[in-house]
Amino acid sequence: MTGLSTLRQELESAQAQALADFSRADTPQGLYEIRTQYLGKKGKVKAILKGLGSLPPEDRPAAGQVANQVADALEEAYQQRLVELKALEARRRLEADETDITLPGTWSRRGAVHPLIRVQLEIEELFYSMGYDIADGPEIELEYYNFEALNFPPDHPARDMQDTFFMKSGHVLRTHTSPVQVRYMETHTPPLRMIAPGRVYRCDSDITHSPMFNQIEGLVVDTDISFRDLRGTLEQLVHHVFSPDIGTRFRPSFFPFTEPSAEVDIECFACHGRDTQCRICKGTGWIEVLGCGMVNPNVFRAVGYDPETYTGFAFGLGIERFAMLKYQINDIRLFFENDIRMLRQFR
Ligand code: DAH
Repeated sequence: MTGLSTLRQELESAQAQALADFSRADTPQGLYEIRTQYLGKKGKVKAILKGLGSLPPEDRPAAGQVANQVADALEEAYQQRLVELKALEARRRLEADETDITLPGTWSRRGAVHPLIRVQLEIEELFYSMGYDIADGPEIELEYYNFEALNFPPDHPARDMQDTFFMKSGHVLRTHTSPVQVRYMETHTPPLRMIAPGRVYRCDSDITHSPMFNQIEGLVVDTDISFRDLRGTLEQLVHHVFSPDIGTRFRPSFFPFTEPSAEVDIECFACHGRDTQCRICKGTGWIEVLGCGMVNPNVFRAVGYDPETYTGFAFGLGIERFAMLKYQINDIRLFFENDIRMLRQFR
């Protein structure tokens, strides 16, 4: 009798201990290890059952029954606790993954559009809205397109005047965007309207000249384009980029590819002609901003257009010059040094 009740006590206390251990477990893995300590082959319950053999035969069924009850009860408690722990684990995982929207975000600095690109986009936007195509051409250009087709005779002084970077075998770094006119006319038939922005090169460098700078070329060809169309278009341009109350003045000039040719001045927006010491207009009240004219018949001939049928106007402007005036930047090198303190001002 003592044997049976001892065994029963041992099993019951093992059960109580196991239940306490189960409730202390805090992960499914930890719980499983505790279960093994009790119900495994080398576990405590098995060890107690080894004592079964020393019981009198008539006590053995009762002892076996108690052992089974304990094992069943532990297994059930184990399963219950397992469900709890799995839920706990899932909740912990969710909590760990949760985004805390009260945390400060990653700081990303806002960039700025470079002032040259800004002016270029502004001008493109205007002409695009007036139905102009935006064209492109090579920066390493044939002398033919840079000069001959634009009506520069071979020994024309304008070739020197332009401080050309000559390259091998009839190539130059283009000195202006005007060659794009010629290429465009070769591949299109009138009526046509286009602008061509791009980099150009001249061997020249000081605070207002850079060996590489940007121009925008414009060209319109149709059967009866007049100087008035040119004038109206360029006035629109000046009003769009500078201000609608800025007046313009067209002065006779010379370019081999236009006849007649003109240079366009805008009213000095700084002093409006009132300051004889004005540093921007040098006291003249006017600032030169671009060159233009009616397409020279020889240029039409070079591309196979009949000058009796077609007329056209063209213009060319320096983007740096526009941007320097518009943003009152007094040194052209500031555009290319990309000093962050200067660029930040355009945010
Ligand atoms: N190509 C000229 C230059 O680089 C600018 C220019 C003047 C372009 C008159 C034109 C024009 O198309 O008609 O100085």
